[in-house]
Formats: sequence, C-alpha cells, structure tokens
Amino acid sequence: MCGIIGYVGGKQATPFLLEGLRRMEYRGYDSAGVAVANGGAVVTCRAAGKIARLESALAATPVHGTVGVGHTRWATHGPPTERNAHPHASADGTVAVVHNGIIENANALRAVLQGKGYEFRSDTDTEVMAHLVQELFEGSLEDAVINALREVEGTYGLAIVSSRDPGKIVAARKGSPLLIGIGDGEHFLASDASAILAHTRQVVYLDDGDVAVVQADGYRVLDRDAAPMSRRVEKIDWDLSAIERGGYAHFMLKEIFEQPQTVENAMRGRLIVEDGTSKLGGLNLSHEQLMAIDNIIITACGTSWHSALIGEMMIEELCRIPVEVEYASEFRYRNPIVTDRTLCIVISQSGETADTLAAMREAKRRGARTLGLVNVVGSTIAREDDGGIYLHAGPEIGVASTKAFTSQVVALALFTLKLARKRGLSVTRGIEFAKALAALPGQVREVLDRAEQMEHIAEEFKRSPNVLYLGRGVNFPVALEGALKLKEISYIHAEGYPAAEMKHGPIALIDEMMPVVFVAPHDAVFDKVVSNVQEVKARKGTVIAVTSRDEPALAGLLDYEFRIPETVDLLMPVLASIPLQLLAYYIAVKRGANVDQPRNLAKSVTVE
Ligand code: AGP
Repeated sequence: MCGIIGYVGGKQATPFLLEGLRRMEYRGYDSAGVAVANGGAVVTCRAAGKIARLESALAATPVHGTVGVGHTRWATHGPPTERNAHPHASADGTVAVVHNGIIENANALRAVLQGKGYEFRSDTDTEVMAHLVQELFEGSLEDAVINALREVEGTYGLAIVSSRDPGKIVAARKGSPLLIGIGDGEHFLASDASAILAHTRQVVYLDDGDVAVVQADGYRVLDRDAAPMSRRVEKIDWDLSAIERGGYAHFMLKEIFEQPQTVENAMRGRLIVEDGTSKLGGLNLSHEQLMAIDNIIITACGTSWHSALIGEMMIEELCRIPVEVEYASEFRYRNPIVTDRTLCIVISQSGETADTLAAMREAKRRGARTLGLVNVVGSTIAREDDGGIYLHAGPEIGVASTKAFTSQVVALALFTLKLARKRGLSVTRGIEFAKALAALPGQVREVLDRAEQMEHIAEEFKRSPNVLYLGRGVNFPVALEGALKLKEISYIHAEGYPAAEMKHGPIALIDEMMPVVFVAPHDAVFDKVVSNVQEVKARKGTVIAVTSRDEPALAGLLDYEFRIPETVDLLMPVLASIPLQLLAYYIAVKRGANVDQPRNLAKSVTVE
C-alpha cells in the first residue's frame, strides 16, 4: 500500500525515482509524485492517476537535482487527486515529505498549526508532517524530524528532504517498512526491495523507531533520541527477472504459471519423505514446546485467511489439536483466550498487513508463541515473530494473490506433518502424506497444461453478473478463494459457500442466469457434493465443475468440466485452486480489466 523511493548520489535523481515508482506501482496507483532538491529549492511534481501521468508531467516540466524522494499512493485521507498526491511541501516550500501509514492525531496537529498561521493545501494527514518539520527546524533536518515525531501518533514510513539541509534524505519508520539500498557513491531508500534491485542488492532494513540519515557517501541510523544504532547489511537474494513479466501478458499469469516451481521451493530441503516428516529450520520451537501446545490460533486476512482455513482442517485432522481461525482485524479487538500454551500462526504474503501484524503483537502480548508464514523476507511480521516458515515463492507483484496461496497451503502442510508425527501420526501415514506433497509440483504442471480449457470456459461467463462458488470440507476455502479472485480482478459479484449451506439461502439466487462453480474432486465428501450439484441443476443453474476423475454420478449434470489430478484429500486445495485462478484471470482479461492493478486495491494493506 503506497510506495516510497528515495535517491541521493551524484546522478540526476528523477530517472531513479521514476523507475522505482514504476516497480512499486502494484503497491498503490491512485496518484504519484516526486520532490527533488534543486540547488536552493525543493521542486515538486505530482499527478493523479498512474505513474505514466507523472512521467508525462515530468517530461513537460523536468526537475533537476541529485537528491529526491518519490511516492505512489493508495488513498486513505482524501480522494486521489493531484493536491492530495505526495510529496507534500511545507508552507515555505523548504521541506517535502512522502509518507506511508496514517498520522492518527493529524486533526489535532492541523488545528495547532493552523493556529500558528499555517495554511493547508490538501486533505491528507501527511501534510501536517511537512509543516511540523518546518516549524521545528533548527540545526539539522534529522533533529527537526525527530522533534516532529515526538508530536506524532500513528504509523509511518517517512522520507523527507529539505533545502535547509541539502544532500540528505531523512527517513523514519514506525509500522511501515523502509530499507536503505547501499550503492557506490549513492544510496537509495525504498519501502520495497523491488524498487532498487536494479541498482543494488545490499540493503539495511530499518526497524520501528529508527530514523535514518541517508547521504551520497553513507548513511546513519539513529534512535528517537538521536543516538546512533547499528543495523545489519543484508543481501537480497532474488533476481531482477523475478520482478519482471518475462514475456507473460500480466504478472498474475506469470505467477500462476510459476506454481510448479514455487510449490517445489516451499518444500525444498524441508520434506523428508522416507521418514514421513519435515524439517523446518526457522520454527524456533523445541520438541518440548511442540508437545506442550494446547491450542492453535491462525490469524490472517484475505487470501491468507483462506489458506488458514485449510491449515485448520489439516492440523485438526492429523495433529488432533484444536485450531481456531480468526480474521486478524477481528482478533485484535476481541478478548481472545490465549495462554502460554497457545501457538498463534500468522499468515501473510507481504508480512506487512497492518491488521495481521497487530493481531500477532496482541497474541504475543497475551503470552502466545507466534509462528509467521511469510513470503517477503525481512518483512515486519518475519522480523517480529518468534519463529517462521518462509514461503520462498519469490516476489508476488500481481495484486491478486496466487502463488503465495498455494505456497501457504504447502507450508501449513509441512508444519502439520512435523507436528502430527510428534503427536502420534504413524510413520506410514506420514510417508503417505509426504509422498503426496512431493508429487504436487508435477501435478500442478499437469493442471497448468490444461489452462487453455479454462480460457474457453471463461469465454462463456465473461458477461455473467454473478457467480456462486461451492465446495465442501477442505475445498470450501477453495470456493471462497475462487470467489475472491473473481471479484477482485473482474468486478463480477461472486460468493463462496459451503456447498450444503446453499440450501439455507443462496439457493434462492439459482436460475438459468446463475453459473455455479463446484469444487468437486473425488474426496471423502464427494457423494454429498453430487446432491448439491443436483439441487442446482434442478433449478436450471449452469454448473462448472472441477473434478478429478470420470464420475458416473455426475453424468448429465455438468455444463463444463475441468479435470485435475488426484492427491490426498487434505492437499486437494493446492490443485483445485489453480483452475479457479485461471478462470478469474481469463474472465477479467476478456472483460478488459486491469488484472495486475485492479481498481481500489493495493498489494499490501498497511493501514487498518
Ligand atoms: C488477495 O488476492 C488479496 N489481494 C488480499 O486479500 C490479501 O490476501 C490480503 O490483503 C492479505 O495480504 P497478506 O497475505 O500480504 O497479509
């Protein structure tokens, strides 16, 4: 959600800023802007809409200078107009600020500053920071920022430049990620490693409470009392190709097709088929601690919440430990029962989702041990959890999550296997489950080989105003995920339901205009699903089914069928979700939607 970029060095800043913004456009694409320190002044250029609009504005009126910051916005306070786009300048024009997060006491600060004669030119919370830094400026920019932050409540990733203290960017982090990129005679600042990967792999992740002074020839990290802090230099270990489309029409399609590899990567070095268990280096849970777990809470948002539901079924089935799945946004404001024998599993692709992070902190505060299933290395959740399992899916750029979902399910399966073996699952059953996991990458490939079939099915439904997704057991979350994928990228209204629950209400919607997608592989509840298919057909609904074998019981009931390979029931979601990703993708493309940047969405939701 929103992206920050900064450059300070010997070259013109604007091309670096624009390139960084383009690479982060998936994080927010309402409006964008840059501010460049240009001799005695800070010059700002902003535009509503996509980065391309900003590029045109800069082409018409270039800004020159070797120090600058840029921002791509996902609007929270005020509509996505040019006046609300970042950077925001102080009243005297000497300070420019870009900001991710929310300044919660912005109204109170605005009133105080207005009382002192400051005029506000935007609806944003961020603008108060620009005026506040001007107001408190004495000595250096970092001193002014530190003083301003004493007044500020809320969350922020901030990057600030000033003509009163040229040659530097001052950054501050609380609850919103920022990293420094180390170059040769130049330094970068970014909210997202992908923004600077083309220039450096050496990065320093800032921690909450850090203030950084970034200059061409070096950087310093300070605490909120200006005392120097030491932070480790880390290496980004993925390539530029991971954040490029590589010949695919969209990142989403590329990421769907990466799944044979990403599913394999999630298991690499972890699955021990011959012993029917897994080895998970980052768990930080001793044998005694694993044996002492009384209950598990899994918390997440969106797609990650869907994988949590699958994890619940896996863990309860194989480990016989009670599991509760909670929306992170609800968990954080409830009064949940958590003890020191509770394990809280936190699932997040980005590792930055504000609600998920807050839920994890709340679980910790109440005494639980936390285990993060995170994709983005070095993200806040990954840094704050007690132990973790990285997904190793590589950067996910498409706003609609695809490969991260299947990797989450695999990571949950690996954890389940380890825990289950400790808690009494026989080696025979462990080996059976491990073998099924090992077979998944090849099976995912088989599903993708049939993608074209889904493209044809999509053609039939591209104009449907509604689609219902139904599944039972472990495939109910798959139905939820299929519906979420369709609605977020195609804007078609879609609902996921447990198949049998349909007759308690949604069945009223079924007529010849209503396509119903059944997730109906041959599993323990297949016969029950057949009855639900019959209920839909009896009301003239159109049935699209994801099946796994020839099913005489379905003869004459299906309008469209997509076949997936068979695996053990608990792993079926990995295979069954992929046709639904494809269906959503092809429908959205056929409707002319912007698949990678759907309206109103942003990749990582770092505000409440
Ligand atoms: C998925 O397609 C979504 N765009 C969204 O629901 C996402 O899964 C959710 O915001 C959670 O994100 P996270 O996994 O990065 O925490």
